[in-house]
Amino acid sequence: MTTTEPALHPLRYLKQSPAVRERFDALKKRPVVLSVRNLYKTFPTPGGSVTALRDVSFDVYRREFMCVIGPSGCGKSTLIRILAGLEDASDGEVLLDGNPVSGPGPDRGMVFQSYTLFPWLTVKQNVMFGPRMAGKRGATVESEARQWIELVGLSRFENSYPHQLSGGMKQRVAIARALANRPRILLMDEPFGALDAQTRCQMQSYLLQIWKNLDITILFITHDLDESAFLADRILVLKANPGEVNEIIEVPVPRPRSSDQFITSEFVATKHRIDQLIHPESQSKSDEIPFPRMTVEGDDVE
Ligand SMILES: Nc1ncnc2c1ncn2[C@@H]1O[C@H](COP(=O)(O)OP(=O)(O)OP(=O)(O)O)[C@@H](O)[C@H]1O
Ligand SMILES: [Mg+2]
Repeated sequence: MTTTEPALHPLRYLKQSPAVRERFDALKKRPVVLSVRNLYKTFPTPGGSVTALRDVSFDVYRREFMCVIGPSGCGKSTLIRILAGLEDASDGEVLLDGNPVSGPGPDRGMVFQSYTLFPWLTVKQNVMFGPRMAGKRGATVESEARQWIELVGLSRFENSYPHQLSGGMKQRVAIARALANRPRILLMDEPFGALDAQTRCQMQSYLLQIWKNLDITILFITHDLDESAFLADRILVLKANPGEVNEIIEVPVPRPRSSDQFITSEFVATKHRIDQLIHPESQSKSDEIPFPRMTVEGDDVE
């Protein structure tokens, strides 16, 4: 089910500007890389079955940057695991370039929040791992690995081991390792969630540069409103219990993106709309904690 923005929401007006319309009309003329059709996922548990995803459908276009956001437990990781082929759907289908996905494959690169590099391999060996598993041998594998490492700005560290790198550097290697398999789509599950705020901002800019320079489509899961408004062309907002599509927001913030845009009406309106969808007013009231008054009446601070 898809809701529409209230008549007065500023995003509604910003989206109608000719430049924004032109951008999204052009996006939707591109080929669909990933198509998710009526996806359901139910987990059996001792307390009864849990419906993690219900009737989720959406398309991601070639070279689109799509973010997925939603409350904790709404099925974001379940969705991305099904797309990666690590989990089976209960119903529905996932098509990559029109072909059904039925298991993991090099056409989908994964980057997780936790650090997943092989600790016993150097940066270069980690990046070469996928191509070698695919049977590639010889000097080209090494020179290509060097190119990916250069792309993420870590040439000086190609012979370092993961424990010698910072969290941000490890995630850059994880991106290079995922890209080395030449995937059609990069699936990222809160990849910067464990990083400090400053490194996280740097990584967002790095990722946008990488995305701009490659023929790659990105599906990026995040909890962070700013991160989604900064990175995405469109934001898929999920709601919880069960996980369903709430709304797909077309982000009117122009590209190239920069931190100067954080105070623009486009950016603020996008964040406000996500917040409205994730924390509806009815829910904020039910979230209020009943708290006994421990101050003298009249001695109020608000
Ligand atoms: N293997 C499993 N067995 C049973 N239930 C599961 C399993 N995996 C996920 N779930 C349930 O499915 C729902 C969605 O979980 P999921 O991890 O996909 O949420 P999420 O949106 O990624 O949450 P978070 O934002 O906290 O990472 C939750 O209710 C979770 O308890
Ligand atoms: Mg998750």
